Amino acid sequence: MLSWDEFDTEEVVREAAKESARQDALNAAPVAPAPVQAIAQTEAPATTFAASSNDGSISPELAKARAALAQLDPKPGIEELEMGAARIQVDDKQMINCRADLNQLVPFKYDWAWQKYLDGCANHWMPQEVNMTADIALWKNKDGLTDDERRLVMRSLGYFSTADSLVANNLALAIYRLVTNPECRQYILRQAFEEAIHTHAYQYCIESLGMDEGEVFNMYRELPSVANKAAWSLKHTQALSDPTFSTGTPETDQELLRNLVAFYVVTEGIFFYCGFSQILSMGRRNKMTGVAEQFQYILRDESMHLNFGIDVINQIKLENPHLWTAEFQAEVIQMILQGTELEIQYARDSMPRGVLGMNAAMMEEYLHFIANRRCAQLGLKEQYPGAQNPFPWMSEIMDLRKEKNFFETRVIEYQTGGALSWD
Ligand SMILES: [Fe+2]
Ligand SMILES: [Fe+2]
Repeated sequence: MLSWDEFDTEEVVREAAKESARQDALNAAPVAPAPVQAIAQTEAPATTFAASSNDGSISPELAKARAALAQLDPKPGIEELEMGAARIQVDDKQMINCRADLNQLVPFKYDWAWQKYLDGCANHWMPQEVNMTADIALWKNKDGLTDDERRLVMRSLGYFSTADSLVANNLALAIYRLVTNPECRQYILRQAFEEAIHTHAYQYCIESLGMDEGEVFNMYRELPSVANKAAWSLKHTQALSDPTFSTGTPETDQELLRNLVAFYVVTEGIFFYCGFSQILSMGRRNKMTGVAEQFQYILRDESMHLNFGIDVINQIKLENPHLWTAEFQAEVIQMILQGTELEIQYARDSMPRGVLGMNAAMMEEYLHFIANRRCAQLGLKEQYPGAQNPFPWMSEIMDLRKEKNFFETRVIEYQTGGALSWD
């Protein structure tokens, strides 16, 4: 590849001037459009010709392309919209079942969604930026970690390596088309990319540590405490993944709400919290600090995904109060209780004894505390009155700007392009 020093700038300018003169000559020459009928009968030659030449003639391929453009009718796309060609007003916008033009981002109705998109971009990071050297040495040293500590790392990577793919698939294949608001879609696209980065981060850890990839990636099918969580999430994406599914009736709108609760509130808001707190506790003890740093970045992203999902659900409730019936609220509480139970089972399975200053009973208390938070965020009654947070440091990690020196790693004011090299 040429470096800037090797460029002959004057030569480039001379070539540009020649090209410009050639284009002027071409533009001055009248180009006779080929008759459409004649084109239809013309078989494209096997050899390719330049689309146009200096004498003003054009190839059959270019003539065909121009004829097709001449037939283009811009109306059908616009007429699908109830508003016709009218300009979008803020009040036309709705979270679901909106018939206004979804291609027009502004004017914003949901400023919080746009702000989350901007915040997500400002937090951009990539897995390769994290130094894994100390982790590799510790993992490969047979006396480096206890069996209980090794189990936590394996279980976490086993669950998360597929969980983020489940979330990403649900976003792209189920939720995206049903959330009918451009600023929310803009955030969902950002979130989908973040889920790809998370899956990349788990793969990067698994590969760096030289783990048995077959064992790790199949845990979500083979190990009951991991498989049950994945199966629960998958069950709640089935209805919406059907390409013929659409919202528009109270029943189908509630089905979308069920999916949003299952993924944003339970999967990302409960199922991630045992594994996150275990790995971050390890990092606090100066073990597996690279993996823990990856998890720190992921947790920061995930807490934003969760909060976005809560805002979307609450906005749908506000715009469609008939959906939030007492019966439906009871169902949402059931979903949160089921998720909490599954996560407690996972905690017991991954921590048969106390490890890293935590044990299954403390994790149960923590998950009750988390479940209460999820209920409160949705305006529902807390289900575990009086539950306390035994891991207050987890709340601090979720906003890394408050914890700049937590692992004494570099801080996270991400500079776009900072990791790129021109070599
Ligand atoms: Fe994720
Ligand atoms: Fe997420």
